[in-house]
Amino acid sequence: MPELHHTIIEPFKIKVVEPIRFTTREERERLLKAAHYNPFLLHAEDVMFDLLTDSGTSAMSAAQWGAMMVADESYAGSRSYYKFETVVKELTGFKHVIPVHQGRAAERILFGLVGGPGLTIPNNNHFDTTRANVEHSGATALDLVIPEGKDPANTHPFKGNIDLNKLEDLLKSAKVPLGMLTVTNNTGGGQPVSMENIRQTSLLLRKHGIPFFLDACRFAENSYFIKSREAGYADKTPHDIAQEMFSHCDGATMSCKKDALCNIGGFLACNSDELAEKARNDLILTEGFPTYGGLAARDLEAMAIGLKEVLDERYLEYRIASTRYFTKKLNDEGIQTVQPPGGHAVYIDARAALPHIPIEQYPGQALVCSLYLAGGIRSVEIGSVMFGRSSDGKESFSDMDLVRLAIPRRVYTESHVKYMAEMIVAAVRGGDALHGLRFTYQAPVLRHFTARFAPV
Ligand code: F0G
Repeated sequence: MPELHHTIIEPFKIKVVEPIRFTTREERERLLKAAHYNPFLLHAEDVMFDLLTDSGTSAMSAAQWGAMMVADESYAGSRSYYKFETVVKELTGFKHVIPVHQGRAAERILFGLVGGPGLTIPNNNHFDTTRANVEHSGATALDLVIPEGKDPANTHPFKGNIDLNKLEDLLKSAKVPLGMLTVTNNTGGGQPVSMENIRQTSLLLRKHGIPFFLDACRFAENSYFIKSREAGYADKTPHDIAQEMFSHCDGATMSCKKDALCNIGGFLACNSDELAEKARNDLILTEGFPTYGGLAARDLEAMAIGLKEVLDERYLEYRIASTRYFTKKLNDEGIQTVQPPGGHAVYIDARAALPHIPIEQYPGQALVCSLYLAGGIRSVEIGSVMFGRSSDGKESFSDMDLVRLAIPRRVYTESHVKYMAEMIVAAVRGGDALHGLRFTYQAPVLRHFTARFAPV
């Protein structure tokens, strides 16, 4: 990775601001107890820095807000739809563009059409909604990320790559209706996929006549990683790189809540006329007419502009630098994180940070609680609380207990990041005072959203 010799600045001025409500530690102790030690159950106004997700939390630009005012809210054939369609077609090259209200709606439609019992759908790592929609269709969702992608300390530049040998073996033995790559690989730490890996995956799948789709939520961040890390791309624009990524594929699902800098929206795009026709019929049944797909036209306007703004090289330089800066601040103070820093989030190794808390007492959730107590920071546990209960109801502890700090786009400044890093260091240093946790309530599936805990 190139060393930084200059200050990378936020490439925007701030025109609209939202005050942060400051809380005291005493207040936060009371609020956290009332939320049963699960920050998902907090009111957002009791959170000072919300790093729960980078999804739907972007600050929109003046151009996006302006376009929303002149949107054409016609039920059918809206001008705003055609504007959106033109932008997506120019970027992706796909023949059909079907708007949906968010990423998982595109997944449900796609896997409802191509999935089914007896089929396997490979990916580097399926995101949890993608996996759930594949499995809902009766198909098997298979993760084939390279071994380096599972090792938090490994500094491979493209830890999101799929293992091509494993993919080739799978194609010989299983029925595969569609192959997928998630860029960047959220489940694996926001790690990028190289253009070479995209190209080889495409060749392999096409040799077997199998369609290849991207889960393109963070396509612009992936393009910037290719530009800065892969030989031959340094002089290309993120836009050209993104176009090349899509050119190897037959379609894509996209949650515009990420790299379209929007609060809601998404699309399903593809080249197949047959798939598009079936998808539009499903869309009419469940989302809305094909020129609005469950959205207001003002959302289509915001997406059309966001998809362009996100590819601005200065923006991407700042975006990737802020995640790197945050990670470095923590690493310099001895806090271990997934390496190298990914695009949209910092992932702290909670077992290393709180070694005195046994795995059975959920060190990830304990760290999430202590970050809230120390600095009013809301983060999310990615470990045994999220994944530790198997379908038979047994508790099986996951390989890692991570805490994800997802960074909303264009929302927090450098001094916010400095403050958060100070508070995180203070929380970890005060570690002896932290307690492990036990469940007092858990739902049978996706328990992390509504779980309740008590200190051990
Ligand atoms: N694919 C990936 C890689 C995602 O990260 C997400 C959402 C989705 C699909 C689903 O999109 O939320 O619009 O339905 N990720 C969010 C997160 C929720 O916090 O990482 P959606």
